[in-house]
Amino acid sequence: MIPALRTLAALSVLLIIVQARNTPLSIPLKQRITTNADLVKQTLHAVSKRTVGDYTLVPEALDAGFWYGNFDVGDSKNLSLLIDTASAAVVINPSLYCESPAGTKLNSSGQPGLSGYVTMQENGCGLTRIAYSTFEDTVSMAGLTAHNQTLAALTSVTPPDNGTITWPPHDGIVGFSGVSPGDSWFGGVPFFQSLCNEGAVNKCRFGLALGTDGTGKQILGGLDSRLFQGYMDHIPANTSREFAFIGDITINGTVVSSNQHIIPDSGTANIVAPQSELRRLFASLGVQAVEQNLPGCGPMLFGYYPCDAPPRVGLQFGNSAQSFDIEPSAFQQADNGNNNCTAILTGIAFGTEPKWIFGQAWFQGKYIDFDQSGEKLGVARLRAKSERLPH
Ligand SMILES: *[C@@H]1O[C@H](CO)[C@@H](O)[C@H](O)[C@H]1NC(C)=O
Ligand SMILES: *[C@@H]1O[C@H](CO)[C@@H](O)[C@H](O)[C@H]1NC(C)=O
Ligand SMILES: *[C@@H]1O[C@H](CO)[C@@H](O)[C@H](O)[C@H]1NC(C)=O
Ligand SMILES: *[C@@H]1O[C@H](CO)[C@@H](O)[C@H](O)[C@H]1NC(C)=O
Ligand SMILES: *[C@@H]1O[C@H](CO)[C@@H](O)[C@H](O)[C@H]1NC(C)=O
Ligand SMILES: *[C@@H]1O[C@H](CO)[C@@H](O)[C@H](O)[C@H]1NC(C)=O
Ligand SMILES: *[C@@H]1O[C@H](CO)[C@@H](O)[C@H](O)[C@H]1NC(C)=O
Repeated sequence: MIPALRTLAALSVLLIIVQARNTPLSIPLKQRITTNADLVKQTLHAVSKRTVGDYTLVPEALDAGFWYGNFDVGDSKNLSLLIDTASAAVVINPSLYCESPAGTKLNSSGQPGLSGYVTMQENGCGLTRIAYSTFEDTVSMAGLTAHNQTLAALTSVTPPDNGTITWPPHDGIVGFSGVSPGDSWFGGVPFFQSLCNEGAVNKCRFGLALGTDGTGKQILGGLDSRLFQGYMDHIPANTSREFAFIGDITINGTVVSSNQHIIPDSGTANIVAPQSELRRLFASLGVQAVEQNLPGCGPMLFGYYPCDAPPRVGLQFGNSAQSFDIEPSAFQQADNGNNNCTAILTGIAFGTEPKWIFGQAWFQGKYIDFDQSGEKLGVARLRAKSERLPH
């Protein structure tokens, strides 16, 4: 998900919240939730620290379109926090944060701050309003600790209406984007950059290796080349702007739309596209495009395709000939019966800054390397588990 402050101007369409729901887990696309819940039951496993060479591997699991890792925050142990590469703050849900003796409350005299996120639901809709107080405390993941980490402890607020989300799913969010205090909305150094600054990781580089089966790994402090196969493509990325980069959209491996502004976002479930671009793409694919006014979201463009023939849509970088396609298993957002499936691509009428948000559905089956110090993003195909070299 993306901090609302940065995107609200562009996503004017998301401003009207009238959805008749009051928890973030009430997501309209029920079919997919069921699938994911089953997957999670099969695959959820505890975090265990695993240091291999000079980086750390952390298992992660998918639930209802989002990926979670386990963290200790102050004296609160084993919180399940959403791994979000497109925001930069640590956010803990109401009443879950216990300050440790090393903790400090910041801005204690002030009013709670107010902020929000967009793309909070599985279909890319969903705006949150949150209220928070800021603290500095220890935050650990898989035994790697950031001391003096700035974090926002949410306070419970009455939603202005039944549709506004006031806290994220599970126990909160850890933003993995950003390098400097200005990147998080309340001015703290982002968590992964704290690990880098404090020397807790050898390299200021992390990766996500998310499978198509609901299990994945996060790599902290380096590159694990055993997890991918073939050649990793690299593209310059703006590390202080959600790792934004310029890429080309492909159909069947052929570029159909070049020089698009793209944000890779593990905290968005689907793929959100500028509506006019997506309309053209659906037309080229022979996918039926239908505009719908969703409560809480405004006009959205959906695509319907035969479930048994998902099209091949992907991304290509620079001069590389490789296209990194959405896996066929990740192309489906919902199954409507009668071989009619909703595509994972959703069109939103962006304002002045049209961009694509390539969410976790695109990450699946790939190794995405967020090289913060190198200011680049790397993408390669995941190696099948059975083909991996023994550890
Ligand atoms: C942490 O929580 C997860 C569920 O999110 C659970 O599976 C795991 O056993 C817990 N680990 C510890 C050490 O309590
Ligand atoms: C954290 O802050 C305290 C007090 O300001 C300071 O003494 C300590 O050195 C800091 N620790 C780190 C790891 O920055
Ligand atoms: C919110 O939901 C409650 C319980 O379902 C209902 O009583 C109330 O009228 C709703 N409020 C609004 C503003 O829709
Ligand atoms: C605390 O408040 C000051 C002044 O309003 C602001 O500049 C600063 O960013 C705030 N810090 C945090 C961590 O909220
Ligand atoms: C990266 O994004 C920041 C924040 O929007 C912007 O100020 C900066 O110019 C961008 N850098 C590049 C190289 O595009
Ligand atoms: C992509 O390839 C498939 C399978 O070969 C083919 O049916 C389809 O027409 C192609 N689509 C486009 C837009 O070229
Ligand atoms: C597929 O389902 C959607 C949603 O029910 C509907 O709008 C669309 O017309 C259907 N398409 C076909 C080809 O049946």
